[in-house]
Amino acid sequence: MESIEKVRKILLDKVYDSDSPREVLRSKELRGLYGLIKTLPVEERSSFGQKINGIKQEIEKAILEREEVLNTVSLPPIDITAPMDINAPQPELLPSDRGTIHPLSREIDRISDIFNRMGFVMEESREIDDQFHMFESLNFPKGHPARDDYDTFMTVETDKDGDRLIAPAHTSTMQNRVLVKYRDNLAKGEAIAAIVPDRVFRNEDLDARHEHTFYQVEGVYVAKGVNVGNLIATLQEFLQEYYGKKLYVRVNPFYFPFTEPSFEFALSCPFCEGKNPDCKVCSGEGWIELLGCGMIHPKVLEAADIDPNEYTGFAFGCGIDRLVMMKYGIEDVRHFESGRLDFLEQF
Ligand code: DAH
Repeated sequence: MESIEKVRKILLDKVYDSDSPREVLRSKELRGLYGLIKTLPVEERSSFGQKINGIKQEIEKAILEREEVLNTVSLPPIDITAPMDINAPQPELLPSDRGTIHPLSREIDRISDIFNRMGFVMEESREIDDQFHMFESLNFPKGHPARDDYDTFMTVETDKDGDRLIAPAHTSTMQNRVLVKYRDNLAKGEAIAAIVPDRVFRNEDLDARHEHTFYQVEGVYVAKGVNVGNLIATLQEFLQEYYGKKLYVRVNPFYFPFTEPSFEFALSCPFCEGKNPDCKVCSGEGWIELLGCGMIHPKVLEAADIDPNEYTGFAFGCGIDRLVMMKYGIEDVRHFESGRLDFLEQF
C-alpha cells in the first residue's frame, strides 16, 4: 500500500511537470500498477483494482487542469517572416483553406509579362516621395493649377527644401528616376524602355469607380525618332494581348503638363463592342476611357539631362484596377481592397 501511494505521487508530479501530460496515462508506472492485480489473491483483486481506478481518475483530473494551464500560457510571438522548414510535416489542407494570389497581383504579373516581352524592364515606385519627383520634374512648377487635379495626400514631414513629403498620386512620380537610371542606354544606341506598375494614393470621394488606394502602370519609352504612331501601336498591341481579342482604340487630345501632345485613350468596350445600349460597363457608349499618354515634354527630358533635340519619347499611365474591372466585369473598384472572401474566391 505504501508503494502504491509513492507511485501515485510520482505520477501526479509527472503530470504537473509535463508539456504533454496525457502521456502519463500510458506510462510504465501506471501500467505496472494494473499489472499487479493478477499477482494478488483473488479476494483482494477487486478492492485493489478500485484503488488503482481511483488513482487513474485523479490523474485524469490533474491532466485536465494541467492542459488548461498549458493552453493559457503565453507563447512567444510567432515570427511569420521566418523561413519555412520545408522538411516539417505539412498539415493536410482542404483546397478551400488555401490562400490564392490576389486578383490585382496576378493581373499585374500578366501586364508586366506582356511588357517584358515587348522589351520593357520593370521598376518599382515608392509609397512616400518628394514634390520634385511628383510635380517639378514633370513640368508642374510650384503653384501650377494642374497640381490640384491630383488630390494628393501630404504628410506633415518636409524634405530639405521645406516642401511636404507626399504619398504619390501617380506612378509618373518615377519618370525622372527611370530616365536618369537608363540615360546611358541612349549613348549606346539603345532605347529607354521601362514600366512601373505600382500603388498610388488619392484623397478622393469614394464610390464604385474611385478608391483612395489603387494601381497604375506607367510606361516610358525614349530613343531617336520616336513618334505618336509608335505610342499608339505599343498601347494597342498591349491591350489586344491583355484582352486576347482585337479591340479598337480612340485617341482624343487631352492636357497633361508632362506630355505634348497629350492624349486620352479610350477602348472599344470588350463586353458589348458598342452593340448594347444598356451595357453596364460602358453605359452603352461603346467606349471606355482607360489611360493618359503623350509624347514626353522636352522639359521632362531636360530635367533628366536628356537632349530633347536629339531624342524623343512617349509615356503613358494606365489605371490597372479599371483594366482588370473591364476584363472580368467587376462593377465596384472597392471590392479589391475589401478583403471579402466571397469576392476573392472567384479568382
Ligand atoms: N499620371 C497621369 C494620371 O495619373 C497619367 C498619365 C498621363 C501618365 C500621361 C503618363 C502620361 O505617363 O504620359 O492622371
